[in-house]
Amino acid sequence: MQSIDKLFVNREKQTAGFIKMLQGQTPKRIMLIEASGGLGKSWTVEFMRVECQRRGIPNTEIDFADSIVFDFLALLRRARDGFGIAAFNLFTQAINEVTQPTVRIETGAANTNAINNLLGQSNTFSGSNVNVGEVIAGNVIKDNSFVINADNAVVRQALQDRLSGAFFACLASLTSQGPLCFFFDTYDKVTVEAEAWLMGHLLPQIRDGLITNVVVVIAGRSVPKLDNQWDHLIARTGLDLLSEPHVKEYLVQRRGLNDDPNVIKALFQGSTGQPQLLAMLADNILRSQASGGDDDWL
Ligand SMILES: Nc1ncnc2c1ncn2[C@@H]1O[C@H](COP(=O)(O)OP(=O)(O)O)[C@@H](O)[C@H]1O
Ligand SMILES: [Mg+2]
Repeated sequence: MQSIDKLFVNREKQTAGFIKMLQGQTPKRIMLIEASGGLGKSWTVEFMRVECQRRGIPNTEIDFADSIVFDFLALLRRARDGFGIAAFNLFTQAINEVTQPTVRIETGAANTNAINNLLGQSNTFSGSNVNVGEVIAGNVIKDNSFVINADNAVVRQALQDRLSGAFFACLASLTSQGPLCFFFDTYDKVTVEAEAWLMGHLLPQIRDGLITNVVVVIAGRSVPKLDNQWDHLIARTGLDLLSEPHVKEYLVQRRGLNDDPNVIKALFQGSTGQPQLLAMLADNILRSQASGGDDDWL
């Protein structure tokens, strides 16, 4: 991906609003960006992250377009890793206490080596070449990446609540030092467990003032449906098509195309100001200019 810093245009309203939220100049805590594909949601999120990095604000991004299936644990682990694992030792310790490896042993398999295959070539029931348990690396506790193992839903729920509690305890010690930010992208692909944590834990804790100094940005073709009891906390926004001056700024200043008013107008009309389409047109023009048109036959 080309550098967002150099190519990003417009979206002043969203980014200025975001900075106000970070600085606590508005009671709004949650920004919902709802727009269709190619309008620049992910770029806006990325731009805001760059802004956080510039200001030294801890932040974490969960993009539901990633190939990871964000179950409860994967979600919290990802969030922890984004903020920096060092602040989350208590949480990681809780993970290690409630998770176990899952080894499924089937009987009656025709293959007599079935059990050894399950354990891995060098592993036996009594010994394993895999180190299980906590690994202390400096001051950071590593987690063993196992899964919550509970054979009934009530126990599972209780373990999840415990983990979530430990997560928020660590978060609170981070927020006492300054603001931090969660980014959720491609919310239209949110998983059931991630949505349950977001709607059942994170957002209500913010609403009820149990955690402060936390800003949440959620972007997607669809975003959480929150009723009007949330209005004081929520900044709702869409993303417009780019205007002709922004298209010109993008093409001429950012991409280095010639400032030919007819060409700019044609590209504005051809793209309708849709950022993704505009970027593709600019890419193609620059590519064919670079090759002097020689590879037109390819
Ligand atoms: N504000 C912007 N300025 C310049 N180019 C942009 C902007 N927003 C989006 N783009 C271009 O459009 C493409 C698609 O944007 P993206 O953020 O992935 O859309 P979405 O997440 O809404 O589907 C980006 O790869 C980039 O080339
Ligand atoms: Mg996207």
